Amino acid sequence: MALKVLLAGATGYLGSYILKELLKNKFESRVIVRKKNDFLNSLGESKALETFQAELTQPGAIINCCEGVDTVISTVGITKQKDGLTYMDVDYQANMNLLKEAKRSGVRRFIYVSVFRGNELTHLKICAAKEQFVAALKNSGLDYCIIRPTGYFSDMGEFYEMAKKGRVFLFGNGAFRMNPIHGADLAKICCDAIQTTEKEIPIGGQEVLSFNQIAEIACSVAGKKTRITHIPDWIRKSILALLRTFTGSKTYGPIEFFMTVLSMDLMAPASGSHTLKAYFEELKSKG
Ligand SMILES: NC(=O)c1ccc[n+]([C@@H]2O[C@H](COP(=O)([O-])OP(=O)(O)OC[C@H]3O[C@@H](n4cnc5c(N)ncnc54)[C@H](OP(=O)(O)O)[C@@H]3O)[C@@H](O)[C@H]2O)c1
Repeated sequence: MALKVLLAGATGYLGSYILKELLKNKFESRVIVRKKNDFLNSLGESKALETFQAELTQPGAIINCCEGVDTVISTVGITKQKDGLTYMDVDYQANMNLLKEAKRSGVRRFIYVSVFRGNELTHLKICAAKEQFVAALKNSGLDYCIIRPTGYFSDMGEFYEMAKKGRVFLFGNGAFRMNPIHGADLAKICCDAIQTTEKEIPIGGQEVLSFNQIAEIACSVAGKKTRITHIPDWIRKSILALLRTFTGSKTYGPIEFFMTVLSMDLMAPASGSHTLKAYFEELKSKG
């Protein structure tokens, strides 16, 4: 009999690729979403899956969501959502609510998507919340797997947007390197993890690129001369200090995360086949 998987986060960038991969591999699938109709309309065609509509932040609303489920996969976290919630409300507590249900229903394995080197970055609000959940998951008694991806191609789109306007702004000298990963490549890793015993998977894409190289690829695809402005690191630190002093965590949380990861090397074991150039070309063709 096919294993039943509950996916939380199916409406997001990574989650939508995981759902495709689950269906392709004939897993019995259930998704938990906030807006069922919007979600079903976005699928475009009827799919063989169960849809559970609920707010993960409300424990009472998700009772029995894990009934009959073998494995839970959660990509739930705040990225660009503006719901007035904090990372602790969502990345930690919403996932805790799901974990509690998973335990109650006897789920075998719980796969959670955190961030690469997140356990070294707990001074950042987002990583503090995610790693607090990771610690709880490790102590839950459930079999688990923590996926630790580098940056996603979806975020590299910002480089392409700057390139289209004729200039890419980078902090420091642009020499830090990373291997970002495409959602489809990462989805495969997440689905493969259902039937392995791996506990922790640090993972990135096949190309290791410096931020200068990413900017060059973006400019070349955009058909623009490469123009990069390197912003001195003291400016980045000053902006962060100002934001921490004068804004709340909901504003500076996402900014401090991106400003921090853009000023360090992020190279994880490589996987996948997608290239950033092809991804930028896809963005170009979509206009
Ligand atoms: N972007 C990166 O470079 C990167 C790198 C490493 C790790 N990650 C992590 O990977 C995970 C997936 O990223 P992604 O880019 O796929 O994010 P995404 O597109 O924003 O998807 C996030 C998912 O979480 C759900 N969610 C957010 N707030 C919620 C709430 N209050 N209640 C219920 N569901 C909620 C969203 O549902 P709605 O559609 O209803 O909002 C969506 O399904 C995130 O945890 C992210 O932090 C990202």
